[in-house]
Amino acid sequence: MLNVNYSFANTCRVFVLLLLCLGFTRAADAQTGRTVADFDKGWKFHLGDVKGADKASAPDKNWRNLNLPHDWSIEGTFSKDNPASPEGGALPGGIGWYRKTFTVPLASKGKQVYIDFDGVYQHSDVWVNGHHLGFRPNGYISFRYELTKYLNFGGVNVIAVKVNNSEQPNSRWYSGSGIYRNVWLVTTNQIAIDHWGTYVTTPAVSANSATIALQVKVKHNLANFKPYTIQVRVLDAANKVVAIGGSIPSYPQLADSVATLNNSFKVKNPHLWSIESPYLYKVVTTILVDKVIVDTYTTPLGIRSFEFDADKGFILNGKPLKILGVCDHHDLGSLGSAINTRALERQLQILKGMGVNGIRTSHNPPAPELLDLCDKMGFIVMDEAFDMWKMKKTKYDYHLFWDEWHKRDLQDQILRDRNHPSVFIWSIGNEIGEQYSRTDTTGRVIARELAGIVRSLDNRPITAANNDPEPGSNIIASGALDLIGYNYHHQDYDSFHKRYPGKKFISTESTSALETRGSYDMPSDSIRRWPIAWDKPFTTGNPDNSVSAYDNVSAPWGSTHEETWKVVKKNPMLSGMFIWTGFDYLGEPTPYSWPSRSSYFGVIDLAGFPKDVYYMYQSEWTNKTVLHIFPHWNWEAGKTVDVWAYYNNADEVELYLNGKSVGIKKKTGDDLHVMWRLKYEPGTLKAVSRKNGKVVLTKVINTAGAPAKIELTADRSNIKADGKDLSFITVRILDKAGNVVPNADNLVKFKIAGPASIASVDNGDPVSHDPFKADYRKAFHGLALAIVQGKETAGSVTFTATSEGLAPATVVIKTK
Ligand code: GAL
Repeated sequence: MLNVNYSFANTCRVFVLLLLCLGFTRAADAQTGRTVADFDKGWKFHLGDVKGADKASAPDKNWRNLNLPHDWSIEGTFSKDNPASPEGGALPGGIGWYRKTFTVPLASKGKQVYIDFDGVYQHSDVWVNGHHLGFRPNGYISFRYELTKYLNFGGVNVIAVKVNNSEQPNSRWYSGSGIYRNVWLVTTNQIAIDHWGTYVTTPAVSANSATIALQVKVKHNLANFKPYTIQVRVLDAANKVVAIGGSIPSYPQLADSVATLNNSFKVKNPHLWSIESPYLYKVVTTILVDKVIVDTYTTPLGIRSFEFDADKGFILNGKPLKILGVCDHHDLGSLGSAINTRALERQLQILKGMGVNGIRTSHNPPAPELLDLCDKMGFIVMDEAFDMWKMKKTKYDYHLFWDEWHKRDLQDQILRDRNHPSVFIWSIGNEIGEQYSRTDTTGRVIARELAGIVRSLDNRPITAANNDPEPGSNIIASGALDLIGYNYHHQDYDSFHKRYPGKKFISTESTSALETRGSYDMPSDSIRRWPIAWDKPFTTGNPDNSVSAYDNVSAPWGSTHEETWKVVKKNPMLSGMFIWTGFDYLGEPTPYSWPSRSSYFGVIDLAGFPKDVYYMYQSEWTNKTVLHIFPHWNWEAGKTVDVWAYYNNADEVELYLNGKSVGIKKKTGDDLHVMWRLKYEPGTLKAVSRKNGKVVLTKVINTAGAPAKIELTADRSNIKADGKDLSFITVRILDKAGNVVPNADNLVKFKIAGPASIASVDNGDPVSHDPFKADYRKAFHGLALAIVQGKETAGSVTFTATSEGLAPATVVIKTK
């Protein structure tokens, strides 16, 4: 390993900067030395095993044509008999084959060609032209194979991928099946930056200056060594060069070897990366041979400093900041697990609107696009590796592959993700079985080994999501963790320092409260934990398996939303929390089972519609002025109804029923909502929040009449004509006066004309067994969702919704 540390002398800095800028710009425009091609299009797919499909000549003419990313499970039919069980989403798994025929230009001869898979669920085998390239069991890991020596340059080539998700259950949540993340074809010269071959850190950051350390791994494939030079530029967000990293000379290398070269340099007056202003620089690393560019590689750079403090919690750029996070699984609701950048971005936008600033990638490495978005949008990511180690959680899960693969998978995760400024914490596992035993200390050994792997590659803090908070817990007792992570146990947060003097804390997972959007079927003022207080209905299932949308039902190990937040809010040493979960997800309908097939834990439902408690967080976690009252106002005459309000930036809220005041309420102490208990009479409920006697906000809920018409609202009416971009269309069932009809469940049919298709439909109902890939959906509590995907031609798309007895609606979306 060769290390060269180079720092520019100030005197020649400006001069060299100018020279290099000119030279670089011209050369880079002409050729960057590397192509990274989207390899998602034009695949063939067959569901089921096929003998000999690995052979280049295998017939695939009659296979289905599709573009990746693809999840075949989401296309299936819900059944309690699917081996994944309702815990896994009640959708089918199985074996699937993918094949792609492609040509490689003769001009690429002499180059290195690789295929990069961002993630395949799971147990993938890959062949090129009949040569087996490898097997990867882990469904969440990104991996690369080199194709060079098997390719027909100037001719036809075939990639075949077998995906085996037939052994089930292998997951505690919905996994999806297939090549569900993006695939890339990467072509480089024979001297090139290696896979995940840069590592950028910011060892010293102040307002005036930031030290940037860069490590570059260069792969040299030539038989005879060719000297090369590495040059480094830092570009700001406007693509202006703000620093030059100097030129690093190479040292002799053997054929097929990788050299590691180090460099460090300074950025003056850096624009710091923060939640409010996630400013991104780029580090552009270039390799030159005889002054010709042979490779160019761009690494994101966010300049920020942070620390966790035992007393002050989390500190970003010198200022304390509470991490207000959510845990989320990787599925995108009705789209399944097939990754889509816009769908992810929409999720993050909805979370930002609630005040969320942290994401825990529970319980596995995420799609790279999630981290790109978190870099750009300002989220603090806890990047998690595993849901189990050697001890299983389900019969066929990763424990079967632990011994052979954990080291490689963890290394690959860190190497892939460590340049993302949004990543602040590594988690080596969630609720790991090995934590509990007080006699078998395997958990300590593994925890130390995993932390050692992470530390050999990066110095960000390491945690684990422990649900055994005792000092005797193997993972905590291992001493391997920088941050002691608790899942749940909010009652124990305040005594943390008694248990762990001087240690740093993070609430890795909290809450697990249940709500069904739009359902208010239980009294609101007593907190219930299943199964203790509500045993039977949870085990046998409510008639409609819905849970009160009041924040009053939670897992026995968890809390209501308000309970945990009240504790975290007032204690500065509690660096942050991650709510279980931001969004409802497919699978784990706990404490229900079939006919439920998705979770109830989300602050936001599966379709992306906020539940009421979303506004509690919004009132606490954002500066936005909030007044949210619920429930709806359609009840049987004389029924006692609790009306809740979440509000902020006001001293009080007054509620009026049919014009008469029913009282002024104020939050006192640590209250997070106010409540009125009313006898229902139809009409109008009006809430007015006031500050110093002045009206801040007014909210009105009317008793809705019969369903009369459909309203459509597209989140975006202009989308890209790239075959990927999406418009999310909210369908509302309204009465003739325009009120949403709260219990409307009308069947709505969709028609689409123009260059787009319906990617999926949903309504957030956790017991619906209607397919997501359809052109119809029943409303659920007055709402439904249709997701429209543009094709690759520009044009005008007309989307129409009809329903028997209702006035139809149309929305127009442009693709360009
Ligand atoms: C946690 C676990 C999560 C989820 C949650 C449901 O203990 O880490 O994956 O199962 O419980 O409450």
